[in-house]
Amino acid sequence: MDKIQIRSAGKKDVEPICRLLSQYASRKLVLPRSQDEISRHVRNFCVAEKNGRVIGCCAFRDYGCGLFEIRSLAVSPRSVGSGTGSRLVDFMIDRLVGKDKVKIFALTTSAGFFHRFGFRTVEKDMFPQKIWSDCSKCPKLNDCDEEAVLLEP
Ligand SMILES: CC(C)(COP(=O)(O)OP(=O)(O)OC[C@H]1O[C@@H](n2cnc3c(N)ncnc32)[C@H](O)[C@@H]1OP(=O)(O)O)[C@@H](O)C(=O)NCCC(=O)NCCS
Repeated sequence: MDKIQIRSAGKKDVEPICRLLSQYASRKLVLPRSQDEISRHVRNFCVAEKNGRVIGCCAFRDYGCGLFEIRSLAVSPRSVGSGTGSRLVDFMIDRLVGKDKVKIFALTTSAGFFHRFGFRTVEKDMFPQKIWSDCSKCPKLNDCDEEAVLLEP
């Protein structure tokens, strides 16, 4: 079986990340992100690679004061259910925990997936920075089906 490698992303990954996210953005499972935006923030992404192809991605956003968001998590439809999503989240948590005392949150329709890593469901209004910056532009603004989850490792 071909090995899946999880690694930090680089410029060559921008296009495949964009393709992967747009599949799920059209189903409103992740926020849409333009190629230009991904390119500017590519250092905040990690990817899962199999046979030289990007089959998953995950990013973080730094809100300052030790608060980070895990976002843009996606695994290609053909690869879901094989542990790739878990490995991406583990990789990201390790990367963020390497910093000082941190709090890591996510807004997600897959809260159960995050609970497996020790995240707990919390009130969304704990993260006003997120609401100002992203939720206000989100197509689901008035009909949000996402939960906020928080990890305090
Ligand atoms: C959510 C997602 C990243 C999971 O990736 P994955 O590679 O399938 O995850 P894994 O194979 O590591 O799953 C690990 C476990 O979590 C479970 N799991 C997966 N998605 C879940 C969900 N939405 N809720 C609860 N549990 C879930 C799996 O069943 C599996 O359980 P098992 O070990 O008992 O079999 C993937 O389904 C995806 O890309 N979804 C579309 C985009 C999306 O919703 N992103 C999240 C936005 S924050």
